Amino acid sequence: MIDKTLIIQFIRPVDPNSTTPPLDDYSYWESKYQSGQAGWDRGAPSPALVEVLQRFPTPKRVLVPGCGTGHDVHYLASLKIEAVGIDFAPSAIETARKKAQSPLENYLLADIFSLPQQFHESFDLIWEHTCFCAIPPIKRPHYVQSMYSMLRPDGLFLGIFFLDTESSTEPPPYCFTLNEIDRHFDPYFQLEAEWLPSAYYPGREGEEIVRLYKKLS
Ligand SMILES: C[S@@+](CC[C@H](N)C(=O)[O-])C[C@H]1O[C@@H](n2cnc3c(N)ncnc32)[C@H](O)[C@@H]1O
Repeated sequence: MIDKTLIIQFIRPVDPNSTTPPLDDYSYWESKYQSGQAGWDRGAPSPALVEVLQRFPTPKRVLVPGCGTGHDVHYLASLKIEAVGIDFAPSAIETARKKAQSPLENYLLADIFSLPQQFHESFDLIWEHTCFCAIPPIKRPHYVQSMYSMLRPDGLFLGIFFLDTESSTEPPPYCFTLNEIDRHFDPYFQLEAEWLPSAYYPGREGEEIVRLYKKLS
């Protein structure tokens, strides 16, 4: 069945007079990929993900929202972990699918705010990396609720968050204070651990924090 919400998302025109990036509109992100301006794409999995998977019990099925061209999904699948990447930018998903090498690596062109019903409570782990900071801040509560509903009971949410520092530049990314992260996640998740990653992309040292949350029942 065709998802009408997704169609509305896809046909909404970008307002040429708006000064705020239309982050809700797939064509904003699509144009960045098409014009080679996807500066966030480092061509490799997140070093923090690589680091954590060396210590973490291996999850069975992982959701990667806003997966971009799929480096993290690809890395998870290379470790024999089933992973599903979601993105609403067609070029990103097309690139990810072209690079895919394993049946454990799957991609869906979709809006994370209208995910298919069969995804509900079907993931052991969500890996959040530069998606939460890329959505309009007003949609943060919706994001957290959506991720909550995709996790199995006792599922885990592992996220790397950009911290709001004095050197933070114009958004996006929309950075976070720890209080803001608490405010959004505490009603739905129990904080299990947090740490500063010892591995990071060049230039991101001290700008990120990793948090591991467990879904509340
Ligand atoms: C800053 S990029 C990060 C991509 C990837 N995580 C990476 O680090 O390379 C944010 C991504 O989220 C996607 N995105 C933003 N809002 C989305 C939404 N509502 N549904 C699906 N994807 C979304 C964009 O298309 C973009 O690929």
